Amino acid sequence: MSTPLLQVEKVVAGYRPDLPIVHGISLEVAETEMVTIIGPNGAGKSTLVKAVAGIVPVSSGRVLLDGRDITRLATHKLAQASIAYVPQTANVFTTLTINENLLVGASVLPKSEARRRIERGYETFPALKDYRHKKARVLSGGQRQMLAVARALLTDPRLIMLDEPSAGLSPLMVVEVFQRLKGLVESGVAILMVEQNVKAALAISHRTYVLADGCNRIDGPSAGLADNPEVTSIYLGAGGRKR
Ligand SMILES: Nc1ncnc2c1ncn2[C@@H]1O[C@H](COP(=O)(O)OP(=O)(O)O)[C@@H](O)[C@H]1O
Ligand SMILES: [Mg+2]
Repeated sequence: MSTPLLQVEKVVAGYRPDLPIVHGISLEVAETEMVTIIGPNGAGKSTLVKAVAGIVPVSSGRVLLDGRDITRLATHKLAQASIAYVPQTANVFTTLTINENLLVGASVLPKSEARRRIERGYETFPALKDYRHKKARVLSGGQRQMLAVARALLTDPRLIMLDEPSAGLSPLMVVEVFQRLKGLVESGVAILMVEQNVKAALAISHRTYVLADGCNRIDGPSAGLADNPEVTSIYLGAGGRKR
């Protein structure tokens, strides 16, 4: 097999050097693969993704993109490394217009290229175009998520990392956002997403990692995990989150 696009190797990370939250997690994302991370609240899912994004310090282990070590790359260099990160909250500027949000995301690009890619974003997400001069605060949760993704796409990433893209969305919007993400993967982008919406995430992604207490717990093809008794009892059974 060729080198995976993203390799996370035994990463230890946390907000304080003396208090690791992620205790040596490993995972891989292949080119144009959609990979989900699930796990109980506090399992370290967001911390792991932030560690890959260079926001949380990594104390040991490595993060490789195309086999190249990017472990301690500054967050602002992430786009150059072809990775985009969409955080769970505060992922759009509500006081700016949709167009201004996109301009901010494209600010690293030459002007003509920025304009071209913003137009391309509007083609991908036509609903945003209708609102381009409206403040982002008027957007619904799902539309904000689309705007955050549209902004992430401006730098032509090969990998997008999303932290709970369906959080707070109505079931209909979850379907819509996931369909969009699937479309992105079909267009050649790889996705690594943290999800609480386990059933929908397992249905749409290629592979899934289950994390618990900052460690790898189970992983494999998503279709297989949907039938795994441990996964179903924790996430899909009675008391779990049902849809
Ligand atoms: N900014 C932070 N500073 C210190 N500890 C944090 C911070 N964010 C999260 N934590 C802690 O890290 C642990 C894992 O959190 P998190 O990665 O957000 O879990 P998950 O995303 O799986 O719910 C939790 O115990 C949480 O309290
Ligand atoms: Mg989280």
